[in-house]
Amino acid sequence: MKTIIITGGAGFIGSHVVRRFVNNYPNYRIVNLDALTYAGNLENLKDVENASNYVFEHADITDEAAIEAVFSKYKPEAVIHLAAESHVDRSISGPMAFVKTNIIGTVNLLNAARKLWDGNWEGKRFYHVSTDEVYGSLGEEGFFYESTAYDPRSPYSASKASSDHLVRAYFHTYGLPVVISNCSNNYGPNHFPEKLIPLAIHRIQNNQEIPVYGKGENVRDWLYVEDHAAAIDVVFHKGPNGETYNIGGNNEWTNIDLIRLLCKIMDEKLGREVGTSEKLITFVKDRAGHDLRYAIDSTKLKTELGWQPSLTFEEGLPKTVDWYLANQEWLDRVTSGQYQNYFKQQYQER
Ligand code: NAD
Ligand code: DAU
Repeated sequence: MKTIIITGGAGFIGSHVVRRFVNNYPNYRIVNLDALTYAGNLENLKDVENASNYVFEHADITDEAAIEAVFSKYKPEAVIHLAAESHVDRSISGPMAFVKTNIIGTVNLLNAARKLWDGNWEGKRFYHVSTDEVYGSLGEEGFFYESTAYDPRSPYSASKASSDHLVRAYFHTYGLPVVISNCSNNYGPNHFPEKLIPLAIHRIQNNQEIPVYGKGENVRDWLYVEDHAAAIDVVFHKGPNGETYNIGGNNEWTNIDLIRLLCKIMDEKLGREVGTSEKLITFVKDRAGHDLRYAIDSTKLKTELGWQPSLTFEEGLPKTVDWYLANQEWLDRVTSGQYQNYFKQQYQER
């Protein structure tokens, strides 16, 4: 049985990756390594927590000794690294947590893998999951390619860029078998409601103002989270060592158009008169250094490895709204903070 450590598996994207690997690969033992920060929620994985090929390890990637201990306990053949501080606004108010987790944490993992594998690279893989934000901000035209020069502009993206550079440095310097992907904005179930789409869904439901930064003209390229998990699966299994793949939805929306569409969908689903939710839109002070536009060219992934997104936004957004409306308890427990008791109840008190 092959053992894979997935870091950040209790988070938004990580939980979809863990579920996919646990269900699709019974011959893999999946070790979910997560510190359970405010963004980690084991309730995301209730449906697989008792699977025989799944185990949870509560550990912080900034803790070198703890990481070495997990590696020597499980002796993984592979790592899929998603653990990170991920919210741009938090990086602006408190950059140090991003430096610690995203940079130092990544180096701790690289060191632990290098030490464990000790030059025996055959069958080993360190997969680093990164973001399109490392490329900076586009004007009205053009795309991010794998060859686009890095130009990060927020503490979050600078810390992710640093981690990408370090992962590549371990490949070139030591031969560590690495692969990297850089993805655009994800949306879908289990998204922490500090991010635009789940925040807006929650606020529309509760008839609260929807804060739109600046004039709402910033553009993001949205991808359904399960399509990102499917891309990670393909890159993990087929991407050659040392390669980088861009992952995107080819689905650009200005924030204001996106919020208007969401309002329309929510009015229909909640049986409200069309136009009711749009009245909640409130333009607020812009994010400092707000990147104007992201747009990914994922031709390399499509042509070399055969990945395609399965859902259009017109399918994925209503599906996402349906999920939040059907999982009110999940949202209530996250917004009230109750989800943070789950680890104690589930893993420490039985
Ligand atoms: P998230 O914030 O929802 O989850 C992050 C997870 O990492 C949480 O479970 C958290 O507990 C864990 N974590 C944080 N610090 C840790 C530490 N020090 N040690 C161990 N675990 C820790 O993040 P997400 O949106 O799911 O993003 C996952 C990864 O994908 C990140 O690396 C992010 O940069 C990248 N990414 C995200 C998006 C997006 O749109 N959300 C797009 C592209 C790339
Ligand atoms: O591009 C990939 C990145 O996408 C990931 O690497 C990040 O981890 C992820 O958080 C996301 O970053 P963004 O900053 O693009 O996502 P966020 O949901 O915070 O914001 C999306 C857009 O909406 C952005 O232009 C800022 C704007 N916004 C956001 C919030 C939270 C608002 O207008 N109002 C809001 O309340």
